[in-house]
Amino acid sequence: MRKKLIVANWKLNGNWAFNEVMMSELSLGLKEVQWHDLEIILCPPAVYLQQLNGLMTDVPILLGGQDVSEQFFGAYTGETSGQMLKEFGCRYTLVGHSERRVRHQEQNELVALKAKTALACGLIPIICVGETLEERDSGKMNAVIQQQIQSVIDCLKDDISEVVFAYEPIWAIGTGITATVDQAQEAHAFIRGVLQQYSELCGQKVSILYGGSVKADNAQVLLGTPDIDGLLVGGSSLMSSEFLAICLSSLNSK
Ligand code: PGA
Repeated sequence: MRKKLIVANWKLNGNWAFNEVMMSELSLGLKEVQWHDLEIILCPPAVYLQQLNGLMTDVPILLGGQDVSEQFFGAYTGETSGQMLKEFGCRYTLVGHSERRVRHQEQNELVALKAKTALACGLIPIICVGETLEERDSGKMNAVIQQQIQSVIDCLKDDISEVVFAYEPIWAIGTGITATVDQAQEAHAFIRGVLQQYSELCGQKVSILYGGSVKADNAQVLLGTPDIDGLLVGGSSLMSSEFLAICLSSLNSK
C-alpha cells in the first residue's frame, strides 16, 4: 500500500509567534484522531525548523525542508544541506518546486541531483513536476512531465522507488484555479505509467501527491481518485482550521 501524505508548504511565510500558534492549534486539532496510514508534514522556512522541532508534541506531524542543496558541504553561500535538515528533525524535503525551477532556473538535472543528495542524507525527496498553461495548451504537457521524471530516473536508477512525486500544474499554484479531478487523475495516471515503464514495483510503490490551490472543499474529492495519494498544500496550509479540515478529509477518502 502506498503512503498517504498531506504536506504543508509554508513558502516564505511564518514568524516566531505565528509558528507557535499554528503548532498548538494543529496539535489540538489532530490529537484525538487515529491516523494510522497518514503522514502530515510541515515544510516551514529552514530558519524555523529548530523552533518547530522543539514544539513537536506526540501528534504525528513530521518536518520537511522546502529545498535542499545538491552539495553536502563547502563554499556554497545560502544553501542548506541534507545533513543540516536531518539535524533539525526533517524526514522529507521538497525539491524542484516550480517556484525554484522558474525563479532560480533549476533545471531537471539539478533537481535530480538534489533528490539523490537528499536520499544519501536519509531524507525522502518530494519531487515536484508539472506543466505551464502554455505547455498544456500546446499539447506538450506529457512530454514536459515525462522529461522531468526521466531525469530523476536516470540519476537515481532503482532508488527511484524511495521518492515521492508531487504533480503541481503551474497554472494552478496560488491562482485559486484547481485542476479538475479528471485533469488531475489523468496527469497522475500518466506519471504512474512513466514510473511503471521503469519498473512495476516503482509504479506501485511511489506516492504521487497533487498540489495547486488545494482547499478544504476540494481535498476529499481529489483524494478519492485512484492515483492521488496525498496533497501538497500552499496557501491553505497557513490557516490552521483550513489545513485541519484538509487533513481530516483524508480520513474519509479511500
Ligand atoms: P497553493 O500552492 O496551494 O497556494 O496553490 C501549492 C504549492 O505551491 O505547493
